[in-house]
Amino acid sequence: MSAPPTVLVVGGAGYIGSHMVWLLGQRGVNVVTLDDLSSGHADAVTSGRLERGDMADRALLDRIFSSQPVDAVMHFASFIQVGESVEQPARYYRNNVLRTLDLLDAMRAHGVKHFIFSSTAAVFGEPAYTPIDERHPQQPINPYGRTKWMVEQVLADYDRAYGLRSVCLRYFNAAGAHPDGLLGERHDPETHLIPLVLQAASGRRAGIKVFGQDYDTPDGTCIRDYIHVMDLAEAHWLALQRLLQGGASGVFNLGNGGGYSVQQVIDVARAHTGREIALEYAPRRPGDPARLVADATLARQELGWVPQYPDLATLVAHAWRWEQRCASASAPRT
Ligand SMILES: NC(=O)c1ccc[n+]([C@@H]2O[C@H](COP(=O)([O-])OP(=O)(O)OC[C@H]3O[C@@H](n4cnc5c(N)ncnc54)[C@H](O)[C@@H]3O)[C@@H](O)[C@H]2O)c1
Repeated sequence: MSAPPTVLVVGGAGYIGSHMVWLLGQRGVNVVTLDDLSSGHADAVTSGRLERGDMADRALLDRIFSSQPVDAVMHFASFIQVGESVEQPARYYRNNVLRTLDLLDAMRAHGVKHFIFSSTAAVFGEPAYTPIDERHPQQPINPYGRTKWMVEQVLADYDRAYGLRSVCLRYFNAAGAHPDGLLGERHDPETHLIPLVLQAASGRRAGIKVFGQDYDTPDGTCIRDYIHVMDLAEAHWLALQRLLQGGASGVFNLGNGGGYSVQQVIDVARAHTGREIALEYAPRRPGDPARLVADATLARQELGWVPQYPDLATLVAHAWRWEQRCASASAPRT
């Protein structure tokens, strides 16, 4: 029997990375998490060891890569807020691009040849058509999207020049939580719709704003493609198998291909929680397209990826279990 692989999960204390760390632990992989805890949580790392530090800290990376052979790096560590990236682009280019280059330098120096990168639907910009496949033009409209697009291009060049094999996974809207309520989304500030809606349901938030009711969609609100965080982790697992078996680099869109409107999310959350959710209707936000939906045919064909939790009710149910845990942890003790 061959030895289990070792995977370095950079950003493994964050929302999506922590679910990945859990899954890798379940599958018998040796996991090392590197996270500076700028937005992550040490208690979300449920397998292997946590190295607290920056992904550009070369001394730390040298120590990690020298302490055991590392078969692959999964890279989740980014700043992720689109609005903030418009106001503070330097911070975004430095963290998401420059520090990623430092991480890749260290990998090259230590002969680590496999890399899986968290990319995003934001690399596409305004959709020219939907559902969006991998050939759709890549014209990001904000610095966050541009940082991801830059790293994708860097990876294509590093494959040609250095033989670094990579898989870029372009997630649409990550959502949901570990089905048992073990892990979930804990961003501060939170900008994602489902946790915002559920925080309003649990009373941790007064209500939520709905931006735009006059889109060209059946109920007038925006449609997004919500993809369960465990399905994202599974796609990473399949990408890891591909690379460890000598497969080629690739770029894949990850989504369910249908999409749900903001109003549908609110309706399902009201029905599932039985709680009132106060709404405030506001004008459209600039840069918010009516519909962002993935065509993930390539991931199904080449990675064999089949999402297990595509329906909105399940996403909301899992996220609600997590929200109730957070709400009871933050309730004042009597
Ligand atoms: N959440 C989504 O809907 C979504 C959609 C598309 C793409 N993505 C991408 O997925 C990845 C993970 O997203 P998330 O929602 O889990 O974000 P997150 O903020 O919860 O996790 C990111 C983690 O990276 C860490 N980190 C950031 N900069 C670091 C650095 N320089 N060194 C070490 N650690 C660092 C943070 O502390 C955090 O734990 C990101 O790259 C994001 O761009 C997310």
